[in-house]
Amino acid sequence: AAKAREQRLSLTDVLAKAMGHYREQLKRSDRAIAYLKKRGLTGTIAARFGLGYAPPGSHALASAYARYDDPQLVEAGLVIHKHETGEEERRYDRFRDRIMFPIRNPKGEVIGFGGRILDSGEPKYLNSPETPVFVKGRELYGLYEARQAIRERGHVLVTEGYMDVVALAQLGVPHAVATLGTACTPDHIGKLMRFTDAVVFSFDGDAAGRRAASRALEAVLPHATDTRSFRFLFLPPEHDPDSYIRAEGREAFERCIAEAIPLSAQLMAVAASDCDLATPEGRSRMLAQARPLFEQLPDGLLQAQLLNELAQRGGLAPEVLAGHWQRAVPGGR
Ligand code: GTP
Ligand code: MN
Ligand code: MN
Ligand code: MN
Ligand code: MN
Repeated sequence: AAKAREQRLSLTDVLAKAMGHYREQLKRSDRAIAYLKKRGLTGTIAARFGLGYAPPGSHALASAYARYDDPQLVEAGLVIHKHETGEEERRYDRFRDRIMFPIRNPKGEVIGFGGRILDSGEPKYLNSPETPVFVKGRELYGLYEARQAIRERGHVLVTEGYMDVVALAQLGVPHAVATLGTACTPDHIGKLMRFTDAVVFSFDGDAAGRRAASRALEAVLPHATDTRSFRFLFLPPEHDPDSYIRAEGREAFERCIAEAIPLSAQLMAVAASDCDLATPEGRSRMLAQARPLFEQLPDGLLQAQLLNELAQRGGLAPEVLAGHWQRAVPGGR
């Protein structure tokens, strides 16, 4: 454990050094600065998030470290080492010609990067690989930068993208975080619950965003105790939080937050998708779709409320539904 700890400390140091290097490179690149300006970001906000630039060369990091062949650069995910049999071994920078978003843990240590291509090209975003200090399904971009604002606002806003977090902060919405190109997991929610008991999800209005919302619903259900609040915000299909707040302004975005629908309504909507509630068949289908969601809720009054609500919409007495689901009837067992 002592050894692992030693390694952990030095890997984050290696990554912090890379952040410093990318910051320096940003100052020297008119093209990268122009890109950030075009995205509406100021130098102040770039500094707050430690944004940087990885230049195009394949060994640009060599100038930042004493040894380019230090195995720690590979371990940190900064350098790729190819050594297939029969091929000459080569090392080169993972991130080239990209805007760099350092990912920090809640202590503020740099644990990885997301890199966005400046123009169009594939992949649009490149993330650090999983390393001993970076587990993707657990970390949230922007949590370190947002932690104070989350406490002040009393809730956290969960988005999909790096740019959403930075743009929202730029425009006066500083309490946003983002999942790292992965679905929101119960681990993510557990981590957020150390900072707040209220979450508002704001995913993109596109199909990927709607999928992300249904994955997020599943991730929060086991955490949905009676004193917590989980709400869902749906933007117009053509928007993500970044584009929406730029087009409509901060007040409009804050109104969307205020109008976000509660978990119960989102659960009802997901359960009722493709169901005609005017028919017994549709109501039964709705209840069948609701059941696996309902069963992930912890025991509590919210669960009892939802049983009642589902029974009502499903056209059954709560006792009948509870009997079918072999659940306690609200108010008695
Ligand atoms: P911008 O185009 O810069 O505004 O980014 P965006 O965040 O709006 O991108 P998008 O909605 O397409 O994707 C949301 C998030 O998914 C991004 O912030 C990334 O974390 C991730 N993502 C998007 N494209 C890719 C990709 O090509 N590869 C990987 N690994 N992740 C991606
Ligand atoms: Mn995409
Ligand atoms: Mn999207
Ligand atoms: Mn987006
Ligand atoms: Mn975007």
